[in-house]
Amino acid sequence: MPANLHRMAVLAAQKAYAPYSNFPVGATIRTSDGRVYSGCNVENVSYPEGWCAETSAIAHMVMDGGGEIAEIAVSAPKMDSITPCGGCRQRIAEFGTPDTLVHLCDKDGVVESIRLADLLPKAFSKL
Ligand code: THU
Repeated sequence: MPANLHRMAVLAAQKAYAPYSNFPVGATIRTSDGRVYSGCNVENVSYPEGWCAETSAIAHMVMDGGGEIAEIAVSAPKMDSITPCGGCRQRIAEFGTPDTLVHLCDKDGVVESIRLADLLPKAFSKL
């Protein structure tokens, strides 16, 4: 993993708009062709309308032409490590492969790296 992927996720969490949960999250993607995109969670007073950091990062990637997610680092400064929620696992799967690596981070670095196939076994696919 590029050394700065964890660092970028930590910095992305600092951009979070999370006044309701007070639980900032940051995520940074590296695509298989080497591009890097970050995102943060963005909440809403109508609570279910907010979205996750992973989703923001994916949106940035799609806006820049799309791509395949080779790895994604996720950081929540208030937790020792965070795993992507179920919805985000499916969103990562949309642009990833079974070998996409999901790096669970704390503030100092990667705590654990898990293959997407292990994080989302038997993922829904209409293909
Ligand atoms: N959150 C993320 O951004 N990513 C996850 O994988 C799990 C949860 C956000 C959503 C909400 O803004 C806050 O964390 C508390 O659930």
